[in-house]
Amino acid sequence: MEETGEKPFSVTLREGSWSDHSDSEGATFMEDIMRGIGSRQDYIDLVAQHYFMYEALEEAAMQLAADPATAAFHPAGIVRMPALEADLAALIGADWRERIAPVPATADYAARIREIAAEGWIAGIVAHHYTRYLGDLSGGQMIAKRVARQHGLSAEGIAFYDFAGLGAPTDFKNAYRAALDAFGATLDESERQRMLDEVRTAYGFNTAVFVDLGKAKAAKAAAA
Ligand code: HEM
Repeated sequence: MEETGEKPFSVTLREGSWSDHSDSEGATFMEDIMRGIGSRQDYIDLVAQHYFMYEALEEAAMQLAADPATAAFHPAGIVRMPALEADLAALIGADWRERIAPVPATADYAARIREIAAEGWIAGIVAHHYTRYLGDLSGGQMIAKRVARQHGLSAEGIAFYDFAGLGAPTDFKNAYRAALDAFGATLDESERQRMLDEVRTAYGFNTAVFVDLGKAKAAKAAAA
């Protein structure tokens, strides 16, 4: 097995999980959204899943924000829950909370994050944090542009992808990678491997969420 200490840890994480990234990116439900053939309802269903993911993730991330050693990962401008709530209200209406539910994979994903948070496994929290937020700051920015154009959304409905509070996304991503490098240097080899495994697990959950969303959509179409 390749040693994780030979390169900057941010590079190890990216390279060691890029095949999982490709699986997530290539999931049909996601691909349809990127190709502009997903419906407005598909997008709404995705935003609803984000709500349940970030509810767990941002609760866990309080542990990162509370410690100077990891606070750089979670500045105030990264927080997504208020934007998600505003997007859901704009897309669904005031009663959005009663009208959304997690698909099974989202429930499992949130449960895994809560389990790690309860253990206080900081590297595990960082693994989940990295997988979601760096994605939102990367491919997520492309998704937002596609969805906005296709469904005629302006700020309302896509606030989740607006990270203006962080400054330029590229600068923040570079700072985030530097924080990953510094954090990785504090871990031993087995812990770095364990964290990489958790990133791969996080991608697996995201892919499973797309699969479940696809199944739910097919079931709804069959019932109509
Ligand atoms: C259609 C869907 C997607 C597209 C087109 C896409 C595209 C991209 C691109 C182009 C990058 C590289 C950006 C850069 O290096 O600055 C990237 C990075 C990333 N994406 Fe995605 N992505 C998609 C879905 C996802 C999903 C579902 C996740 C996980 C939830 C994800 C997580 C990440 C992460 C963590 C990175 C940062 C990797 C690193 O540099 O360490 N992406 N994505």
